[in-house]
Amino acid sequence: MDASAKEALPKQPLKAIHPESAGRPLPGSFRNMGRHALSQPYGHDDYAWLDFIMMCHFHMQQRVFPGNEKAWASRGHAEFLRRFGREPKDRREVRSVMERDPYWQMWSALKRNTQEMSYDVRNAANDRAAPVIAEKAAKIARGKTKGSLRLNPKLAVPRYITAVDIHLQPGGYNTDDGQGVYAGLSYDSGSGLMTGGGHGKFNDNAGWSLVSFIRSHYPDLKPKVIVDLGCTVGHNTLPLKAGFPQATVHGVDACAPPLRYAHGRAEALGVPIRYSQQDAEKTNFADNSVDVVTTAMFLHEIPRPAMARIAREIHRILKPGGVMVHAEQPPYEGQPPYEQFIREWDTYYNAEPFRCPFRDMDPVAWANNAGFKRDKVFAGMSPAANMTDQGLKLEGGAWFMIAARK
Ligand SMILES: C[S@@+](CC[C@H](N)C(=O)[O-])C[C@H]1O[C@@H](n2cnc3c(N)ncnc32)[C@H](O)[C@@H]1O
Repeated sequence: MDASAKEALPKQPLKAIHPESAGRPLPGSFRNMGRHALSQPYGHDDYAWLDFIMMCHFHMQQRVFPGNEKAWASRGHAEFLRRFGREPKDRREVRSVMERDPYWQMWSALKRNTQEMSYDVRNAANDRAAPVIAEKAAKIARGKTKGSLRLNPKLAVPRYITAVDIHLQPGGYNTDDGQGVYAGLSYDSGSGLMTGGGHGKFNDNAGWSLVSFIRSHYPDLKPKVIVDLGCTVGHNTLPLKAGFPQATVHGVDACAPPLRYAHGRAEALGVPIRYSQQDAEKTNFADNSVDVVTTAMFLHEIPRPAMARIAREIHRILKPGGVMVHAEQPPYEGQPPYEQFIREWDTYYNAEPFRCPFRDMDPVAWANNAGFKRDKVFAGMSPAANMTDQGLKLEGGAWFMIAARK
């Protein structure tokens, strides 16, 4: 992977990267997603089902979703004005009328159903493949490896992970009490299905965007140690190594199933990553020892008190001058009430209880309360980057980045 190409700024205004963003191209076949030695051995019928589900997601996101805005404009908004004689102030007020709207109810039920079908389909294939892939991952781990895997069976996995079937993923990230690779398998195939490959062939768009952000905002930084917290299967950890080849890159997660899979996947793709099972609230990295801490799509799955502890932990392990960067969705603050409302769906119907509290949070205060000076915090949209045949290119939407320098 060549990460050295020059980056050119996109001319369009920055819009958060999201499968429901208007005008996404029709996805190709799931067969085109990046494969590696740990990928499931899908057969013809599996691909037929996976392509069907990918198109269901796409159809819902691109063709059915926009009708909600029309329902709001033509019915909900008028009803709100009639009842209250003023504009709605926030997402809760929009919801007070929209949750009874028949179009929104139909969309919501179909979206939930598509999500459930998506797990039914891929987990049918995963059920067959999991024992074989677990053995493959174990064999890779026993052999000569470029990176490493350190599991901690004694770790108390936080209850906010084990108690939630996050985004309806059966068993969540710590399936089968952390014994196998199931959650890793499920996550690896799920990201591409949901986005129709929109996060890149290897689902690594957030990772490349982090690389691009760090290079452009902190050009003086030459990181030697990078820690990616909540790395799951390492989709967005691998680009950090490619983007900063001189650095030792650590992937940390509290759950063993994604980590076993992540290690096998990284080895299969030839990228040396040091994976370890740790709680991001209390890691074993020494004080002032890390140059960069990253997360990708992680913070919105963490309850607020734990987020505060994680921020303090990041501040502890960063060297003076070190940087934390988090790729996320933007806060609700400043967004039109309808936009806030339509983006809260996952909290209510997709088992993502911490998403709304995260998006209601002031990211600058969050970093500041952990010890980062306010004038050293960045919170704003930043162009998304993809690795292309021509190198790293800024294209296709943006991430909300929360960054701070110690
Ligand atoms: C949405 S996933 C992150 C996705 C991943 N960063 C990527 O780029 O694909 C959240 C991950 O964070 C992990 N996690 C949640 N709380 C954690 C904690 N306190 N310590 C370590 N990992 C945690 C979960 O096990 C899960 O794998």
